[in-house]
Amino acid sequence: METPTPPTGFHKGLTSYGDAGFSYFLRTAFIKGGGFSNDALARPVIGLINTGSGYNPCHGNAPALLEAAKRGIMLAGGLPVEFPTISIHESFAHPTSMFLRNLMAMDTEEMIRAQPMDAVVMIGGCDKTVPAQLMGAASAGVPAIQLFTGSMLTGSHQGERVGACSDCRRFWGNFRAGEIDEAEINRVNDQLIASVGTCSVMGTASTMACVTEALGMTVPGGASPPAVTADRMRIAELTGSTAVAMAAQRLTPDKIMTPAAFENALRVLLAIGGSTNGIIHLTAIAGRLGIAIDLEAFDRIGRDTPVLVDLKPSGRYYMEDFHHAGGLRSVLRELRPLLHLDALTVTGRTLGEELDAAPPAFAQEIVRPRAQPIYAEGGIAVLRGNLAPGGAIIKQSAASKHLLEHEGRAVVFENAADMANRIDDPALDVAANDILVLKRIGPIGAPGMPEAGYLPIPKKLARQGVKDMVRISDGRMSGTAMGTIVLHVIPEAALGGPLAIVQTGDRIRLSVTQRSLSLLVSDAEIAARTAALKAAAPEAAAPERGYRRLFLDHVTQADQGCDFDFLRAVKMTAVAPLKRA
Ligand code: FES
Repeated sequence: METPTPPTGFHKGLTSYGDAGFSYFLRTAFIKGGGFSNDALARPVIGLINTGSGYNPCHGNAPALLEAAKRGIMLAGGLPVEFPTISIHESFAHPTSMFLRNLMAMDTEEMIRAQPMDAVVMIGGCDKTVPAQLMGAASAGVPAIQLFTGSMLTGSHQGERVGACSDCRRFWGNFRAGEIDEAEINRVNDQLIASVGTCSVMGTASTMACVTEALGMTVPGGASPPAVTADRMRIAELTGSTAVAMAAQRLTPDKIMTPAAFENALRVLLAIGGSTNGIIHLTAIAGRLGIAIDLEAFDRIGRDTPVLVDLKPSGRYYMEDFHHAGGLRSVLRELRPLLHLDALTVTGRTLGEELDAAPPAFAQEIVRPRAQPIYAEGGIAVLRGNLAPGGAIIKQSAASKHLLEHEGRAVVFENAADMANRIDDPALDVAANDILVLKRIGPIGAPGMPEAGYLPIPKKLARQGVKDMVRISDGRMSGTAMGTIVLHVIPEAALGGPLAIVQTGDRIRLSVTQRSLSLLVSDAEIAARTAALKAAAPEAAAPERGYRRLFLDHVTQADQGCDFDFLRAVKMTAVAPLKRA
């Protein structure tokens, strides 16, 4: 029972009994209760995070993935050891999944650190699960590889192809506008989710899968295979065998997730027309490694990174089409001159080497050449102005062209409950060219920054055929949503940011060309309203107990990824995108 130096496998992280030999003796005695031999226990130990849950249909294929990943681990000579962590699904988490992301990240980090493993395979998929796992893995410092559950299949409604969740929103909008009746919306409900797996458009889950492949944290080609396909299972097997090799090389996350890798991921986020949530999550993951994401530089690389992927909500197709079109490798090939090809991946080879080894390109119409983009610039633009001194973002590729330069009268909702009470009131004073403003749905305000930034079009306007309006909030929106929607306003209203003093009737100007968001109210009036707001603010109530208290005391704003302040690296030592000479 000699302990290897440094300790590996079950010798790692021994329980503190004050006698290392006894700790190892006891540990192996317990695991032998499962019938393990000394030969099995001497192999590299590969942890496998099982996030299968009855509350998470996006992870419904977890049992099959586990079997395939274990096969890959054992074929490569490792010993798989499965363990659970928290699992979060978008539609089953109250008040919002984002409230729980950091809790899952803490669970992931501490369980990787506490339990003996030489590498870990993390099975994730639904929106917040992958960022939580990458945040946790970045902090735990053990070789880690991401395995996605993969996207769901599409369904069919009266001959029309449908998928979650862009079509969920579109049909619900039609129902609200009185264009379809209750019987039809119920029939659509049966068709939107045609199988287990993650949302079938370029929503947050698909976005995180793509940016994670660009980061180098999954096997090449790992982002796109749908959940129920043989390709997905082969990726799982390959992930298992790759994890064993990573253990031998001690290929830790900090060697892969470098500033250059984050720049690659940010490029891909822009080029796929990815979810606005992607920027928050990448900021949080990078922050764990001491890498600050520079929003201005992100906007700058967006000027020469066109949207290439024709997927909903910015385009026409679905994830399974993207997979058939070659998946992310088709995008990376187009972006090649803009990427850092020397960035390392989980295979131990560089991104450039993996692209050289990828199957050849072929004719397809889902991923466009750079010369014929879907949208000339990157999908996301960063705005500044007196309404958002710390920044705000807009998914310009999913916005209405005619609203990208717009001035209008503010119609203000003080919080989500106020909006729910009044948005459909026939007496609401609102017109199509007004700007809807929703306050207090930021990280602290809601709390948890729910995806409520996609304010519904007031029913009376929807019934007149209005499909889009400029909407502004300090919250987020689902990656599957579309519209001219300004999000992540910093500082949030609950912190007394300028958003808090906007009143119905104020004029607001949005200029995406100028990257500006302006409240057209004099500086003196802004100062007077801010002073009045401060004077009227009630004494802050003592935080509640438990996780909610931890959250409210420590959550950061969107420009720091909404991570907890004490979980970020102590010092930021690098910046991404990289500074240009
Ligand atoms: Fe899980 Fe969309 S709800 S990925």
